[in-house]
Amino acid sequence: MGGRTTWLLPALLLLLHPGSAAITSPKAARGLERGSLTVQCQYSPGWELYVKWWCRGADWGCCKFFVKTTGSEQEVKKDHVSIKDNQKNRSFTVTMEKLRLNDADTYWCGIERIGTDLGVQIEVTVDPAPVTTGDTRGHPSNGGRSPLGSAHFLLLVFLKLPLLLGMLGAVLWVSRPQRSSGRRQSQPHENQ
Ligand SMILES: *[C@@H]1O[C@H](CO)[C@@H](O)[C@H](O)[C@H]1NC(C)=O
Repeated sequence: MGGRTTWLLPALLLLLHPGSAAITSPKAARGLERGSLTVQCQYSPGWELYVKWWCRGADWGCCKFFVKTTGSEQEVKKDHVSIKDNQKNRSFTVTMEKLRLNDADTYWCGIERIGTDLGVQIEVTVDPAPVTTGDTRGHPSNGGRSPLGSAHFLLLVFLKLPLLLGMLGAVLWVSRPQRSSGRRQSQPHENQ
């Protein structure tokens, strides 16, 4: 009985995941933050008129459906994700726009059918956008330079210049009493 169940397990897994042959996709897709990425999934002849879907979550059993086609070539768009079936060359394209870093996850592209759907897993990676904090500032080279320049100018006027004048004043002030005290000191000497 033990031998029978161990033989059944791989067969059961094959029955639960029979989709790998009927549908293919790249194993991974990459995009830039705030950019977009496209995934193309291809399927075997015979599946043209079926509903195609895009699902998020590593667990096949409870992934979250994002978009589904209607079984036609009409593009379906929801939020920043769209799906379009091309029945002539048997492929459907999923486009994710305005990518955010937390869009990175395991996704599936699949075909809806009676029984267990067909599906294939895709690892989506979102790379951080190049350093630009603040969208309103424009070009970082221009935006970054002027505040820094004015800050340095203010530092020069309000800190370095008074410091310089203060030092100059101190030098003059110190040298003056030295002369007078020198005279005062020299006076008793002259008197003695
Ligand atoms: C299928 O056709 C569409 C539209 O012409 C094209 O964008 C896509 O790259 C094609 N896919 C394949 C796998 O040939």
